Amino acid sequence: MKILIVGTGYVGTTTALVFCEMGHQVTGLDVDDQKIEALQAGNLHFYEPGLKELLLKHIQTENISFTKNIKEAIKNNDVIFICVGTPRGEDGRADLTYVKNVAESIGKYMKEYKVIVTKSTVPTGTAELVTEWVKSAQEELVLFDVVSNPEFLREGSALYDALHPDRIVIGTTSEKARLTMRELYQDFQCPIVETNPKASEMIKYAANSFLAMKISFINELARLCDRLAININDVSKGIGLDHRIGPHFLKAGMGYGGSCFPKDVNALLQTAGASGIPLTILEQVVQVNAEQSLYFINKIKQALGGDLTNKTIAVLGLAFKANTDDIRESQSLNLINRLVQEQAMIKMHDPVVKLADPPHGPFCRQFQTVAETVSDTDAVVLCTDWDEYKQLDWMTIKRLMKQPYILDGRNMVDKGKVEALGFHYTGIANY
Ligand code: UGA
Repeated sequence: MKILIVGTGYVGTTTALVFCEMGHQVTGLDVDDQKIEALQAGNLHFYEPGLKELLLKHIQTENISFTKNIKEAIKNNDVIFICVGTPRGEDGRADLTYVKNVAESIGKYMKEYKVIVTKSTVPTGTAELVTEWVKSAQEELVLFDVVSNPEFLREGSALYDALHPDRIVIGTTSEKARLTMRELYQDFQCPIVETNPKASEMIKYAANSFLAMKISFINELARLCDRLAININDVSKGIGLDHRIGPHFLKAGMGYGGSCFPKDVNALLQTAGASGIPLTILEQVVQVNAEQSLYFINKIKQALGGDLTNKTIAVLGLAFKANTDDIRESQSLNLINRLVQEQAMIKMHDPVVKLADPPHGPFCRQFQTVAETVSDTDAVVLCTDWDEYKQLDWMTIKRLMKQPYILDGRNMVDKGKVEALGFHYTGIANY
């Protein structure tokens, strides 16, 4: 099948390459010239493990090509995936400007039947809007169908998730489009949920919100466990083995971040508010998440004697989670802002993220190596669970530091081991 992917972010690029793997002919389109030029040359404009190799492979097989020519791209392809961003608007609702622009371009340039698929995360009811936008831009009547087909990829493991989905959701009321989508996904072994577009769009928000709820649940419980000196990791394991609960997204930490959960939970709350049906559990999910980073800051303060003025703190990890260079809504940057407000000096490190313009001028500097970062500091704060930080040589680090304090926002360090080396260790209910 001939597939056009509009939007070459991590969702669009991953989707494109996975369809190449399935033997389809794929064109990637973006309004950003630099991104297209980079992709044409076999370079990714973001960090995502495994993707570059697949990109190079399919440039070779000629299953993939990239273009900026939207008119030709729409004309030449049968199925068009909309994979553009839907950032958080000022009022918390998803901003659909980019989706609208694409829909209008499709309407303007299509000359024969197309299946138009929204993969971008869009509020329930958007498929109807896309239909209206396409129609309003058409100069002549050409038939088309709109399908909602949300993605469930995680940054950092996007390729694995796309190749091994738990389920595929297809939301359409058109039999013709349903059959096209079935054919497109015929090589996948997972269950396929077929429904209408509205329910499909809701499934995406419900999934992200439910996962965010699991995280806020375990984070709030961790505060109680901290008070009672109970190990939250054991509690997560003990409840996660119940197959009705499941082991995933029960890792206590500094609160969720990234480009998806904060935005999507808020967007669903907006939909709920606008519909007059409050989702009170989700309101609490957001509140608990906001409190969690404050909770961790207070732990840092307590550990360091109550005052951070002129303390030098090494922050390890800037990305919102491991295996990505994404810093959107990163709890690490949130924490740095607050530490600076408390008059602390920050030395930062990340294996992949290099901040072009570090925040807070002289109070905040980024270093190339962990050794440079931790030298002469009063504490090390672990913010991102990169593998590199799981294998640190704490003996050497202790020698480099002014004071041996570890504040572990990810419960990733073996508390017993580092305490045996003479460190003062504080995690999130990690006993
Ligand atoms: C999330 C969903 O997991 C994907 O299924 C979805 O497709 C994607 O959003 C999206 O809507 O595009 P992502 O934001 O890439 O994926 O990252 P996650 O792995 O879900 O992590 C989100 C945040 O939760 C991170 O800050 C992570 O550190 C935190 N987290 C995750 C925890 O604090 N504890 C956990 O147990 C799991």
